[in-house]
Amino acid sequence: MDKFVIRGGNPLLGTIRVSGAKNSALPCMAAAILTEDEVVLENIPQVRDIETERKLLVSMGAEVELGYGRAQHRTTISCRVLSDPTAKYEIVKTMRASSLVLGPLVARCGLARVALPGGCAIGDRPIDLHLKGLELMGATILQEHGYLEARAERLHGAHIVFDKITVTGTEDLLMAAVLAEGETLMENCAREPEVVDVAALLVAMGANIQGAGTSTIRVKGVTKLHGARHRIHADRIEAGTFLVAGAITGGDLVVANCQPSHLSAIIAKLEACGVRITAMGTDSLRVRSEGNLRANDISTEEYPGFPTDMQAQYMALATQAEGTTTVVENIFENRFMHVGELVRMGANVKVDGRTATVRGKTPLSSAVVMCSDLRASASLVLAALVADGESILDRVYHIDRGYERIEEKLRGVGAQIRRMGDLFGSGKREVALEAQVS
Ligand code: UD1
Repeated sequence: MDKFVIRGGNPLLGTIRVSGAKNSALPCMAAAILTEDEVVLENIPQVRDIETERKLLVSMGAEVELGYGRAQHRTTISCRVLSDPTAKYEIVKTMRASSLVLGPLVARCGLARVALPGGCAIGDRPIDLHLKGLELMGATILQEHGYLEARAERLHGAHIVFDKITVTGTEDLLMAAVLAEGETLMENCAREPEVVDVAALLVAMGANIQGAGTSTIRVKGVTKLHGARHRIHADRIEAGTFLVAGAITGGDLVVANCQPSHLSAIIAKLEACGVRITAMGTDSLRVRSEGNLRANDISTEEYPGFPTDMQAQYMALATQAEGTTTVVENIFENRFMHVGELVRMGANVKVDGRTATVRGKTPLSSAVVMCSDLRASASLVLAALVADGESILDRVYHIDRGYERIEEKLRGVGAQIRRMGDLFGSGKREVALEAQVS
């Protein structure tokens, strides 16, 4: 298992580029199921979840080309033949977003079999709202042998009011509705930019959608969709993580290729902590900090509020701010897995239910720490960038799920970070620990 070795203390200086949004690319790849024609997606991030989705589509009979580098991070997907509309357990268990194929498969094939996702590190994450919506659209749903089976000869339009705001639920039902007979009205929808991105692709494929990006979405079903070419927008969570990296290290960093309008809540919070952020052109932000950070509370909310996917990274910053920061996690229960590891590095954080209280500023010291999920890993990278000495982050496969070559990007702006292969598995544990204390 790969590990990161990070020596803290360097301010980040220079320009760091943001990749395409994983959470847009995933539903957009699933949307390709809705047509027999080719769908070309550009600005696909080179991360593990995308490879998992490629495998998922291929296992159903799709042809998926995925090219990086000079090939513009492009994928070409052809779902001309879908011989097996099943999302198998082996794939679903590693990526819960696999449930995004449910709606498109029923709409296109009249049948979808999706393995039940099971428990998850950051809470239960049920998909009951996806199922409820599909039932309202005329699907019958059966559960057996650990799989959900949804069937409908043709889905019909429906009035769906989400009990709770769900991002992939909104995307899944939107993809189902575009080929349904008649009109679908969806209320209390997620307003995330990723919903807007997949809606833009669907419109380019011939769908009739109004209101994406607001709480109410109206869809007029069409009988057929065609191929399209679409460019995925920048990853706002990767951009936010880099803004925190610039701020926490007392750096002067340009975060390029981002979409500042998607980052308003994050920018506002960082500014309230004393971080200077200025726009440079339309797609870059310059972040500067002299290390005099002030505490400022956050409470995670659906977009346009402060994103739950930035909570762990913000907490790393809060350990370096003067004063007490209250962090309230409203979206997922059990999303404080990074706290134990931050405390092992010297942070003062107490958790009570959905609230964490961070008392800063505490110096952080290097340690061997364990990544538990994608954003928790990002938080530990940020903490290690300011810790005294050399930290070792174990299980970085979590970070590889959603950040493209993060160690190379950070090294490019002055961080001392390197990836190591099976450091402990080959009897090199002592060497690693020596490195840590040196
Ligand atoms: C998406 C993002 C994830 C982000 C999350 C919240 C993708 C691939 N992932 O996850 O990075 O952290 O949004 O911004 O886009 N819920 C139900 N029933 C359902 C669906 C959701 O109760 O059927 C609950 C969840 O348990 C959670 C809340 O609704 O408490 C929000 O979850 P949701 O927006 O669905 O998260 P994801 O779409 O899985």
